[in-house]
Amino acid sequence: MCGIVGYIGPKSVESVLLVGLQKLEYRGYDSAGMAVLGDGEIATRKAVGKIAELQKLLKNQPMFGTVGIGHSRWATHGEPSTVNAHPHLNKQHTIAVVHNGVFENYAKLRSELTDDGYVFLSETDTEVAPHLMDKYLEEGFSPEEAFARMLRRLDGQYALAVIAEKANQKIFFARKGSPLIVARGKSEYLLSSDIPAVVPICEDAIYLENGEWGYVSPEGVTIFNAAGDIVTPKWEPITVSIEDVDKGEFEYLMLKEIYEQPDVFERIFKERLDETFIHFPELKFGKEYLARVGRILIQACGTSLNAGMIGRIYIEQFSRISTETDYSSEWRYRNPLTSGDSLVVGISQSGETADTLAGIREAKAKFMRVLSFLNNVNSTMARESDALINLMAGPEIGVASTKAFTAQVANLLLFSLYVGSIKWLIPSEERAKILSELRMVPDMMRKILKNHDSIKKIAAFLKDKNDTIFLGRTYNYPSALEGALKLKEISYIHASGYAGGEFKHGPLALVSENVPVVIIAPKGEIRTKMISNLKEAQARKGKIISIITEGDEEIKKESDFYFEIPECDESISPLLVAVPLQLLAYYTAIERGCDVDRPRNLAKAVTVE
Ligand code: G6P
Repeated sequence: MCGIVGYIGPKSVESVLLVGLQKLEYRGYDSAGMAVLGDGEIATRKAVGKIAELQKLLKNQPMFGTVGIGHSRWATHGEPSTVNAHPHLNKQHTIAVVHNGVFENYAKLRSELTDDGYVFLSETDTEVAPHLMDKYLEEGFSPEEAFARMLRRLDGQYALAVIAEKANQKIFFARKGSPLIVARGKSEYLLSSDIPAVVPICEDAIYLENGEWGYVSPEGVTIFNAAGDIVTPKWEPITVSIEDVDKGEFEYLMLKEIYEQPDVFERIFKERLDETFIHFPELKFGKEYLARVGRILIQACGTSLNAGMIGRIYIEQFSRISTETDYSSEWRYRNPLTSGDSLVVGISQSGETADTLAGIREAKAKFMRVLSFLNNVNSTMARESDALINLMAGPEIGVASTKAFTAQVANLLLFSLYVGSIKWLIPSEERAKILSELRMVPDMMRKILKNHDSIKKIAAFLKDKNDTIFLGRTYNYPSALEGALKLKEISYIHASGYAGGEFKHGPLALVSENVPVVIIAPKGEIRTKMISNLKEAQARKGKIISIITEGDEEIKKESDFYFEIPECDESISPLLVAVPLQLLAYYTAIERGCDVDRPRNLAKAVTVE
């Protein structure tokens, strides 16, 4: 949700910023821009649309200098246009600002600055910042003091980077709510909203805390806390590699991330499983506390909530703890009931989603403990939760979440088995049986991936449809929601997921020969019920796409298209079902000519409520 970068150093500023913006493009691609300070003057370039548009512009109008800032935008205030694109400037073009987040008091500041004679060109909230800084510089304050005064006037949440002609070799920065990293390479510094932009040239980084601000210059980094006291920088090595953030031989990052899933699972099992038991070395909660938890409230958004819904079944089944799930954006506003033995669980790939973060804060305000399942363990949620579980999916950059989803489901399953074992609820033979099946998941996934051609055929059929229905029950009801979400996110085909039992209570009315139905029916307790759903759809001329266990001749015969997954315990099936559903969305989007990694109107990390 908007990406910001800044660079000071000997390399070509334009190139470093451009590569950085490309790596952050998943955060927004409505427009992009950069400002570079060279020969004592600030030059800017802005373009509507993807970073490639800015790149084209730079080819004709290159920029030179040693200090610069850049931005990729996901529009909040004001439509995507050149005038609304960042960086925003003061009238004399001596100050340039890039911003991620929202200044909540911008209307008041705008009217105050307008009264002072400042003229606003854009509809953005961001534009108040360069004018405010200008005002304090005009009043005679040093650039450092003007920046600090500007920050004191800004409400809301933000990450900011600012350059000013009066501070020739400096980039000012501030973080309040939105993420910001300062990273260093060889005699050079980079600022970035996220790690992928700094990986190519930096070795270590500082993950700024909320309220911290300061500046980088060739001499180093100066950081202050919200109270204005100097903070000693805490440098941490960057462990992510270039391969982790590059799409390599794959056409899209999403496809690469789908194919990474078997390796992710091997990594998780290596870390978490030994011959007989499950381990969460990073989990700060002791066994005694976990055994006493009486109620779990899972709150998350999007794909992470779908994983949470599967997790709920695991936790109730294996840990025997009453568990609820809700959208974070609903949960926090419905005055949730609290009790001393309640544990709030947040699930998030990015650890920066504003709604989930607000849910965590709401829980803490109600004195509840918070455990978060996070892929980014340097994120704001990681800092604000009482304990965390590392999803270990590796950096996920494709906007549509894939490997983080299956890693969430796997970690939730292991967590539920862990708590159930602590409480002596699961006989060791039963646990050993599930764990031995789980260890086979990576190879089962590889087998599914090898069979991707049969998904391509289904995608070729689906590409001309306007609507699709996904049905599943128990463990695979959330799989149906996730399958539908993936399809609509990247192919723009309207898709809805329903619990199989609810099909006849309304959604059945939608079925016709033009509305296909995806039936998720692996072997298990609910398979026969899913066959009833299949028949109901078939009787209304609905075309059937089924996801079934290998060798299920009965459903094969009834289906227009089918995809087989290896035989497994029903509780593990969502992990396998997810893969063909991801591939189905992917290949359908490709058939329709969609830009899979940059779905329209969406962003990966949604840092506004
Ligand atoms: C955005 C992304 C989704 C993601 C959701 C929650 O909407 O496009 O793919 O599921 O945010 O993100 P989180 O980082 O909290 O898992």
